[in-house]
Amino acid sequence: MLKEGKLVAFPTETVYGLGAIATSDESVARIFAAKGRPSDNPLIIHIGNKDQLFEWAAKVPEAARILMEKYMPGPITLVLPHRHNLAVNVTAGLPTVGIRMPDHPVALALLNEVGTPVAAPSANRSGKPSPTTAEHVWQDLAGRIDGILDGGPAGIGVESTVVDLSAEVPVLLRPGGITLEELRETLGEVNVDPGIRDQKQVPRSPGMKYRHYAPKGEMWLVKGDPQKMVLYIQKRVEEAKERGKRVGVLTTEENKEKYQADCVVAAGSRQDPTSVARHLYDALRHFDEQKVEMIFAESFQEQGLFYSVMNRMKKAASGKIVEV
Ligand code: TXA
Ligand code: MG
Repeated sequence: MLKEGKLVAFPTETVYGLGAIATSDESVARIFAAKGRPSDNPLIIHIGNKDQLFEWAAKVPEAARILMEKYMPGPITLVLPHRHNLAVNVTAGLPTVGIRMPDHPVALALLNEVGTPVAAPSANRSGKPSPTTAEHVWQDLAGRIDGILDGGPAGIGVESTVVDLSAEVPVLLRPGGITLEELRETLGEVNVDPGIRDQKQVPRSPGMKYRHYAPKGEMWLVKGDPQKMVLYIQKRVEEAKERGKRVGVLTTEENKEKYQADCVVAAGSRQDPTSVARHLYDALRHFDEQKVEMIFAESFQEQGLFYSVMNRMKKAASGKIVEV
């Protein structure tokens, strides 16, 4: 189906992707239409073996080679100058392209069968939480795409780490499955795109500027001392309930018994960041299913994989962050 120019969603180790042949403008255009994605937001291309990277990247600096060696296949996307041989709309006209080799047997089998790189954003409607199951893809895109390859739940649960290697010093554009600490340990100096730290700055990864990963309900992210956080959230829940709202709390196994709300969801354990990453998007979608109107979410220390988790939670809350 991909070879015929159709759209097929497929599993990766991070989230499900919505694939189309990356050399066909027409097929790629259909991705933007199906997702309702702004056309200035470039797609990343997926390859089935490392050698393919050199066919599409024009320059591969030492830092990129080191990352390839250490993390490919894996949850990392390398942004490199391209050779102008991809469909123009894949890169939204930028001189660089994001290239990734997923660490998932089904994705790799598919990519190697197709042979040509597959452009694939996350397989959600634009703005919604990314899909971590085939079911999520179905909820968002049934009737808009040609097929879904169901490989069971995705493993990591947040998207790949996007690193720009087109300048002198590598720049983290999106935190993801590979942590900033790991990148710095491997490469030494790594800058962080100001758009990640400060939501008011325009990010260099175009996709990071949109309201994103957001549930339908109004989400508030609560930061601060763990005990105060719990008390504050329960107080806000009660206030909202008095106003007749359907209220949800996004918490973890450690605290889930501490709340009385219409919908309390534990996304994994604080002791295990991978469990929170894996369940985050499913939890956000669950609030939609339960028609929750206001969501209060506990925050995490912004380190390791929790840094990536918090990046997605801040976007889902689109700036509604309270420090207690
Ligand atoms: O884990 C993942 O990366 C998933 C799976 C399916 O591979 N894909 C994914 O794609 O998350 P998407 O399109 O949802 O996110 C790609 C991000 C966007 O923020 C986009 O703006 C950025 O990467 N990006 C892509 N190409 C870029 C480029 N040339 N320069 C800067 N940012 C780029
Ligand atoms: Mg996405």
